[in-house]
Amino acid sequence: MTDAAKPAQKRQFYGRRKGKKLRTQQQGAYEGILPAVTLALPAGDAPVEPASFFDAPVKQVWMEIGFGHGEHLAWHAKNNPDVGFIGCEPFINGIAALCMQIGEHGLKNVRIWPDDARLLLSRLPAQSLDRLFIINADPWPKKRHHKRRFIQTEMLDKLHALLKPGAEFRMATDHPDLAEWLVEKTCAHPGFEWQAKCAADWQTRPADLPETKFQNKGLKAGRPTVFLNFTRKG
Ligand SMILES: C[S@@+](CC[C@H](N)C(=O)[O-])C[C@H]1O[C@@H](n2cnc3c(N)ncnc32)[C@H](O)[C@@H]1O
Repeated sequence: MTDAAKPAQKRQFYGRRKGKKLRTQQQGAYEGILPAVTLALPAGDAPVEPASFFDAPVKQVWMEIGFGHGEHLAWHAKNNPDVGFIGCEPFINGIAALCMQIGEHGLKNVRIWPDDARLLLSRLPAQSLDRLFIINADPWPKKRHHKRRFIQTEMLDKLHALLKPGAEFRMATDHPDLAEWLVEKTCAHPGFEWQAKCAADWQTRPADLPETKFQNKGLKAGRPTVFLNFTRKG
């Protein structure tokens, strides 16, 4: 059985969960803020409406999978206070970095799923997400590791089911081989439509996509980021 075909609970997470020891401030944010913003699912396997994860009513629910150090998510949360944000990221150092930004900006509209996103996706009801971001997914460049890439046809089926008709599914990467993979797989899926009409559309950073550490690193190494905006078809 391929990994993608296994139930979410049985799939392996191949990324890093821990990096360098947290600095005192990061440890403080991790311990002091994370418990209050961790998304806790009720026991069982019944679907849970994501808007219910937030204390105050939210106009929409947006999700970022693999938020890294959280700069992109925190920027959106700050600029869209009436939207509820769910950030999925198993990397503890990244979680601590986002917790620090939540504390610094007093963000009330963020919930963190500190684990593999696939475990959460399997608990959300159909058509419950208004926008989805996957910015600089792990590229897994070796051919034998391509099956570890987050975007696979089965995952696109799942994401299509979870997004509302017309919802934006935005990806970005500075890895040319992954970019090709993302375009090929997502364009081949009947449920998504690529919004780019000309090269400038995928070469130009959208105004509401703040730069992240990874993008700057890629640019310095001569790998410009490509911006892939898709819409979930109705
Ligand atoms: C290359 S980093 C990019 C981080 C960030 N988006 C940025 O642009 O700075 C990819 C991130 O995706 C996370 N990731 C990979 N697989 C994931 C999964 N199944 N669920 C949630 N996060 C995942 C990794 O832990 C890592 O932090």
